[in-house]
Amino acid sequence: SQYPVLVTGGAGFVGSHACKALARAGYGPVVYDSLVGGVAEAVQWGPLEKGCLSERDRLLSVFDRYRPVAVLHFAGFIEAGESVHAPRRFYRNNVALTLALLDVMRASGVDILVFSSSAAVYGMPDAVPIPENHPLHPVSPYGWTKAMVEQMLADAAAAEGLRYAALRYFNASGAHPDGDLAENHAPETHLIPLAIQAAFGARPPLSVFGTDYDTPDGTCIRDYVHVCDLADAHVLALRHLLEGGDSLVVNLGVGRGASVRDVVDTVGAVTGRPVPTMVAPRRPGDPAVLVADPRRAEGLLGWRPRYTVLSDHVAHAVAALRSRPAALSPG
Ligand code: UFG
Repeated sequence: SQYPVLVTGGAGFVGSHACKALARAGYGPVVYDSLVGGVAEAVQWGPLEKGCLSERDRLLSVFDRYRPVAVLHFAGFIEAGESVHAPRRFYRNNVALTLALLDVMRASGVDILVFSSSAAVYGMPDAVPIPENHPLHPVSPYGWTKAMVEQMLADAAAAEGLRYAALRYFNASGAHPDGDLAENHAPETHLIPLAIQAAFGARPPLSVFGTDYDTPDGTCIRDYVHVCDLADAHVLALRHLLEGGDSLVVNLGVGRGASVRDVVDTVGAVTGRPVPTMVAPRRPGDPAVLVADPRRAEGLLGWRPRYTVLSDHVAHAVAALRSRPAALSPG
């Protein structure tokens, strides 16, 4: 392609979907991934360069070989709960290695970056839907790593002419309707794949973390945004920056919430198999409601999510999990 793009974490769930969208939009994704969280089979739209962001010489040579016009930076640890127990691993991997990436970008003359941030930067929101100017007060080291990288990017942009887009994902869900890219986290902690697997008897009953929240049905409400819509937002952000647009920070959510109970019911309806559940204590750090105000992404990027119906997310996730037979078989 005329437009090679380096994609760190391109073997992961969101990164691999973004590679597919990039290829369809005429870019040439080059995946740089350690394969610690990602899987090689998800890299289908360009070369895979296996490596860690800590390997400076290796990374420099990849920049030198492919001459990317920009970097999409997905690589990072994602489990907020785990980050509480292993904060240094998260600060090293998510913050220190993003700084290492910025160093290599600078040395290689690449100054456009699209960064995977998170709604976790908001912590327990004061009100919903959440606009981007809501104060940042993360409640986990994971959330802090995302907030710190955003600050680093803002400072580097002011000082050195880096231009960046920080995309604050709400709850990534679904899968490409082609069924070729399933969510594949090990261990899986995300609600929708866990509920689907419980419905198929591939897991024990789903633990519902708290039924006494101040929400209509007592369970937590989240803004589930389809992974293909996230992928499209990356392409739009990349195009915006390549065309000379200003740096930006935007929420990526649909602007509507679904409760854990809604998800359980939807999985039951889509699969025809009721999800066995049990009530469990609240999970520390879970806000009752997280819903995006997505208007800035629409205004600045023209991004509008295509998949706003939860049953489509679930149906796509089921179809993709079927392509990994082990995911849905008991045991
Ligand atoms: N939940 C359960 N049982 C489970 C798993 C989850 O009840 O077995 C509940 C959680 O308590 C939460 C909801 O389902 O209320 C969604 O939980 P997920 O773990 O799927 O997602 P989170 O909202 O915790 O976190 C996700 C990403 C984070 C990101 C955050 C931002 O994993 O990286 O969204 O919104 F920071």
